[in-house]
Amino acid sequence: MASPVSSFLPAAILYLILLSAPATAQHDYHDALRKCILFFEGQRSGRLPPDQRLRWRRDSAIHDGATVGRDLSGGYYDAGDNIKFGFPMAFTTTLLSWSIIDFGRNMGPELGNALKAVKWGTDYLLKATAVPGVVFVQVGDPYSDHNCWERPEDMDTLRTVYKIDRSHPGSDVAGETAAALAAASIVFRSRDPSYSRLLLNRAVSVFEFADRHRGAYSGSLRKAVCPFYCDVNGYQDELLWGAAWLHKASRRREYREYIFRNEVVLRAGDTINEFGWDNKHAGINVLISKEVLMGRAEYFSSFRQNADEFICSILPGISHPQVQYSPGGLIFKAGGSNMQHVTSLSFLLLTYSNYLSHANRNVPCGGFSASPSMLRQLAKRQVDYILGDNPLRMSYMVGYGARYPLRIHHRASSLPSVQAHPARIGCKAGSRYFLSPNPNPNVLVGAVVGGPNVTDAFPDSRPFFQESEPTTYINAPLVGLLAYFSAHR
Ligand SMILES: *[C@@H]1O[C@H](CO)[C@@H](O)[C@H](O)[C@H]1NC(C)=O
Repeated sequence: MASPVSSFLPAAILYLILLSAPATAQHDYHDALRKCILFFEGQRSGRLPPDQRLRWRRDSAIHDGATVGRDLSGGYYDAGDNIKFGFPMAFTTTLLSWSIIDFGRNMGPELGNALKAVKWGTDYLLKATAVPGVVFVQVGDPYSDHNCWERPEDMDTLRTVYKIDRSHPGSDVAGETAAALAAASIVFRSRDPSYSRLLLNRAVSVFEFADRHRGAYSGSLRKAVCPFYCDVNGYQDELLWGAAWLHKASRRREYREYIFRNEVVLRAGDTINEFGWDNKHAGINVLISKEVLMGRAEYFSSFRQNADEFICSILPGISHPQVQYSPGGLIFKAGGSNMQHVTSLSFLLLTYSNYLSHANRNVPCGGFSASPSMLRQLAKRQVDYILGDNPLRMSYMVGYGARYPLRIHHRASSLPSVQAHPARIGCKAGSRYFLSPNPNPNVLVGAVVGGPNVTDAFPDSRPFFQESEPTTYINAPLVGLLAYFSAHR
């Protein structure tokens, strides 16, 4: 039971957090946006194209899929290792697409690069879903990979291919893949209609497979995906999430009815203050609320109530055991790589504030009412913290600002480039670079790391991977946030 909230206290604390931001020069959000997108080029797997801007990377893993007679080259490495994990890759692609759908008009000349970042993901997801009734969900044996500190270009670890199919279901990863394909079909609808149709048709069939053959991929592929990207919270949210994106992309009545019919069964109102590669609940509620707030779907009003509750649960001052704030004002949630929560929750704060503004509505939180501009300020405060307005005066985006992480947990960045050191560096020969106190030789511009701990302290040390490792799903929602703030000061 929530205790009755005084209308004065949360507002006072909220303003304290927002106003306690250290006064600094305005950030160059456009520069940060450019870097945030460039980061994805450093994560590319496969054959690099002629217009690759990040030049110290080379082709890698070009034979992925050969062991199963498929071309599964391409796609993204998820973080500082050389595995292609399909679940977070699909989520990254969905969030990059959502960033463009809502904020592409704010991206200026960076829009083209953002589209390429999406397409690098969807081209791979199309390969991974080319066989009906099968989704290739991972390439690379994570134990073999994690046992080595190797450049992707030198990789000689096991490139085992993992798949789900009708007898080994994975509604989580398949649902997220359908969501990514559907979201990207909106991105390309007017820009490349035939590609958009291909994406949407594939999303439809992958979703049908996900829904008809229900189960969690961590049941089917436990040894390969746990504890790395183990689906802890179940596959129900990805089914709703996939249906929500298909509804948005296709406007077909069957998806509206699916959401309506399954809202309770698939627990739309559960664990509402989470949003990440595993848990889509808050995202589902915010995404569907847009329809309600635009006056197009009154029948979905319970999603709006859930979204309101989600917002209330993450505001500072309304104490909630699952969301804290560091003394410096950063959102903090338990578990590793905190910055993924910061960027994804801030993204929802911003998108929801825009939907609310259109409808001229506030969020009622007990006796206190949160305005859209308050939500936007809170999101901006988080972005500014990332860019350097924090107790350490440290930018958590590599290559942005005067001080940023120098020893990120990232194989390609921390080992000498192929150009600098053409001879191969074997599995264990890489260890001395991992353990070196020196800065990484290759600056992975735009990478945002896991970030400081709950006391705003940051070790800047490779072995502290929870703090020093970048991931694609930290950056994907940040692309939308930076686009918005570069256009609205
Ligand atoms: C945060 O990090 C600092 C420096 O690495 C360390 O001294 C401190 O114990 C950490 N605090 C928590 C709560 O983990």
